[in-house]
Amino acid sequence: MPAIRKPVITYTGIDQKVTYDDPDSTILDCSISNQIPHLHECGGNGRCSTCRIRVIQGSSNLTPRTLKEQQMAEFRRWDPSIRLACQCYVKGDVDIQRLVWTSSEVNKLQLETVPDGEAEERAIAILFCDIRNFTKMAFENNTFDIAHVLNRFYTIIGDPILLNNGVIYQYIGDEIVGLFGISGGTREKNCRDAARAALGMYYAIEHLNHMELVDFDLKIKTGIGINFGRAYIGHLGHPKHKQLAIVGDPINTASRIQSFNKEVNSRILISHSVYKSVPEDTFEIGQDYITRFAGHEHESQLYELKGFKKMDIQLELQKSLDYIFSNKERFAAKFYERVFEKAPQARDLFKKNMRDQGRLLTHMLGGIVYSMSRPEHLETGLAFLGKSHAKYGVTEEHYPVVLSSMIETIREELGEHCTPDLISAWEQVLVYVTDEMKKYTT
Ligand code: HEM
Ligand code: FES
Repeated sequence: MPAIRKPVITYTGIDQKVTYDDPDSTILDCSISNQIPHLHECGGNGRCSTCRIRVIQGSSNLTPRTLKEQQMAEFRRWDPSIRLACQCYVKGDVDIQRLVWTSSEVNKLQLETVPDGEAEERAIAILFCDIRNFTKMAFENNTFDIAHVLNRFYTIIGDPILLNNGVIYQYIGDEIVGLFGISGGTREKNCRDAARAALGMYYAIEHLNHMELVDFDLKIKTGIGINFGRAYIGHLGHPKHKQLAIVGDPINTASRIQSFNKEVNSRILISHSVYKSVPEDTFEIGQDYITRFAGHEHESQLYELKGFKKMDIQLELQKSLDYIFSNKERFAAKFYERVFEKAPQARDLFKKNMRDQGRLLTHMLGGIVYSMSRPEHLETGLAFLGKSHAKYGVTEEHYPVVLSSMIETIREELGEHCTPDLISAWEQVLVYVTDEMKKYTT
């Protein structure tokens, strides 16, 4: 009797073919067991939609949508070719394409909740950041230098928006606008996220000035303004060219707050509504100012944001990412060397290519830092990781070894930038991560 051929999943884009040999595996399980990076923020629970795929061929060879998937597809208005990899099983050959690759794409998924063709009122935090001395800089330097600096500027100030669950709304010349809370979240969280993004931008600019722009003899100065309020949001415009549009007084006010930095020579200013959104002992505030913006009948009180009063774990982790992952391969190599030195028997658990393994690990650690601003998925994501580790044969005793090796490697990679706060932040998050994963060891 001829052997029954097992279904093959073709990952288009990377043109990789994988034999589907366990009927109890979802497509997501299959990606993970074949070391194919596949985002799965909620750990395969059908809640985050980051594992979504487009089925290019063979859609009838997949199991029908589960109830969770059906609800998600209706809410987000998906066409039938979009499926959740964590919810579908394979009955015959399929060609698929993973749709979400980066954290910035994860943040953009929030926009699917924005109504099409009409505007809806939502409470959001709005951040404007602007290069203060741009016109002078553009005049004094050649176009190539300016284009290079602008690109670097947009990257390094865009990252803190994305790291804090914000959406980059638009770039206007030398200005970037970030929105926090597009798809919900509490007022406190959205304002905290925006404040953390502003501080992250400030540190990133300092770093850029000291490390990269010295050679160009340039120094970027920025002004950041944050406001919180109800604005109208929708995908509006010509039927063939709709785009995200946000309108309302809170947006204009955020822009004016940003400009007000010039008048008082400050770096980050927040409105009273942001200040009032968090408990009193949250922000470290410098000067406060009272002004009346054009078109407003009332006066506005503004506060200079200097930092968080208590250590903010997320900010510390975010500040350290660039240093730690400046060379991801080196990080992973040093980390595994330490693990195998402390627990030589753990070497046998690793069956696959260690280079890919290192890539996945650093990808995962970066992902954990990102997911901390979306905590609703972190716990289920770690449960999934804990269960897969139990299957790899990982036991409770392995976790402290991994934890201490990770901290030692982080300390080494941080070098002169290592501070007690940074190490304490990493310790706290790794203890949480390993404790969650450990729950699933057998
Ligand atoms: C901070 C905690 C840890 C994180 C974030 C982490 C992350 C990862 C990731 C992302 C993968 C890729 C596959 C998957 O997603 O399931 C993986 C695989 C793996 N991890 Fe971990 N891990 C952690 C702790 C550990 C510990 C304590 C051990 C035990 C020594 C371990 C051993 C393994 C093994 C054996 C594999 C599969 C490799 C293979 O199939 O060759 N991990 N880990
Ligand atoms: S919805 Fe599939 S992993 Fe979250």
